[in-house]
Amino acid sequence: MRNELIIVLDFGGQYNQLIARRVRECQVYCEVHPYTLSLDKIKEMNPKGIIFTGGPNSVYGEDALSYSKEIFELGIPILGICYGSQLMAHLLGGTVKTAPVSEYGKTEVTVDKKSKLFQEVQEKSICWMSHTDYIAKVPEGFEVTATTANCPVAAMEYKEKRLYATQFHPEVVHTKEGTKMLSAFVKDVCQCSGDWEMSSFVEEAVTSLREKIGNGKVLCALSGGVDSSVAAVLLSKAVGKQLTCVFVDHGLLRKNEGDEVEEIFGPKGNYELNFIRVNAQERFYEKLAGKVDPEEKRHIIGEEFIRVFEEEAKKIGAVDYLAQGTIYPDVIESGLGKSATIKSHHNVGGLPDHVDFREIVEPLRMLFKDEVRKVGLELGIPDYLVFRQPFPGPGLGVRIVGDVTENKVKIVQDADAIYREEVDLAVKEGLIQNPPNQYFAALSNMRSVGVMGDFRTYDYAVVLRAVCTDDFMTADCTDIPFEVLQKCMNRIINEVKGVNRVMYDLTSKPPGTIEME
Ligand code: XMP
Repeated sequence: MRNELIIVLDFGGQYNQLIARRVRECQVYCEVHPYTLSLDKIKEMNPKGIIFTGGPNSVYGEDALSYSKEIFELGIPILGICYGSQLMAHLLGGTVKTAPVSEYGKTEVTVDKKSKLFQEVQEKSICWMSHTDYIAKVPEGFEVTATTANCPVAAMEYKEKRLYATQFHPEVVHTKEGTKMLSAFVKDVCQCSGDWEMSSFVEEAVTSLREKIGNGKVLCALSGGVDSSVAAVLLSKAVGKQLTCVFVDHGLLRKNEGDEVEEIFGPKGNYELNFIRVNAQERFYEKLAGKVDPEEKRHIIGEEFIRVFEEEAKKIGAVDYLAQGTIYPDVIESGLGKSATIKSHHNVGGLPDHVDFREIVEPLRMLFKDEVRKVGLELGIPDYLVFRQPFPGPGLGVRIVGDVTENKVKIVQDADAIYREEVDLAVKEGLIQNPPNQYFAALSNMRSVGVMGDFRTYDYAVVLRAVCTDDFMTADCTDIPFEVLQKCMNRIINEVKGVNRVMYDLTSKPPGTIEME
């Protein structure tokens, strides 16, 4: 049986992913779709409710994103948020105006507790506002259900038609009782029973993958990271040996990582699939020899990765599906594409040109990272893999400043293994108050003079990095106790040949980035 579905129609707002996950937190399955999703498709999907997101436009703007008015005649409950609320008002004959000053930040709203949306909410509640335009006059049939000092229509509704709108953002944490409002919309207005949980996701994904793939052959690039691993296990559960996973060891992985991936997914592992490990280290080192420009290095690694993958795919022959572990934030990142390129990201949107396949399958496309981890646990994937910290596609290639050599890779692998071991231990012992989300060793391209025993050394400097971050877009340096850092320094100098200095990177992002290159 299919789960109840809420569709979020994306009008370009920045919190869209949050809306979807808040709905899923109410145990109701939710998918985000672009505002271009057709009315017929919506009818076919038969959702229990629709949410219009916020967006940067004005309803009167030249490029205003809009939707056919017919959507209000489907009899499906709709909640408009911010721009979505203005669009609802505008399309149904209300008036939207531009305020002389924007209303931004935490704002007290007074709500009408008779509204289904606000029954469980305090009469005066704090909400998050972020708008310049506002609804000056509600459309016929609607009534105002919330106001603020500056906003005459902070919420409106047409109860009989089950159309609701809030000028504020119930999905962000700053709206104190926002989850209650979304839950009220989903449960009371849309009448969802809350039949969804991660295990339902797994069951449903397996069933629909089986239906879609039939007897077809599937090819998947497995990196050993969380996303591609979860996608691979899901597919293996659905179609078993019809799936072939190609794992390219580019020689830029963390210490022992290649063998760990093989242990889990290879013939001795727990899963039914065809596993191919390609040991392509030499090729990558050769291509990277003498290259020092970070973008050039990234391109070389990305390009070579695709070439190796294509060669393997050719050996397999035509496949029906190419599987990818794309998750929702990747969809958003690659979709925007307007901002300046800071770094060319590997494994976002890059597709092999010469692989013969019919279609792409992306079973995790609608999920957020923490939800992917839950699916991973649900599927029985080992904890250490599920909770692995992020690791860039180009691997140690971007953690070795300057040219990459096999020797440098060995140095950074060994130093990194020691550092991670010590940080994990310190976290376990409660020595680090605010544990880092990402921590690793990198290799600076600096060699300097030191003394070991009675001998002069001229060796490399290892850089230790640890950052605390929610979204990886900004990050702060983690406060790691001095004694922990000192222990790392001691062990690295003593145990890793070729290193005579250890430094701790204090830089936040911005101005730094998390990775070195
Ligand atoms: P930066 O260095 O841009 O990194 O501050 C932000 C986050 O992204 C990860 N990262 C990558 N992930 N492919 C990926 O899948 C890449 O090419 C890539 N480059 C950086 C980085 O580890 C951090 O978590």
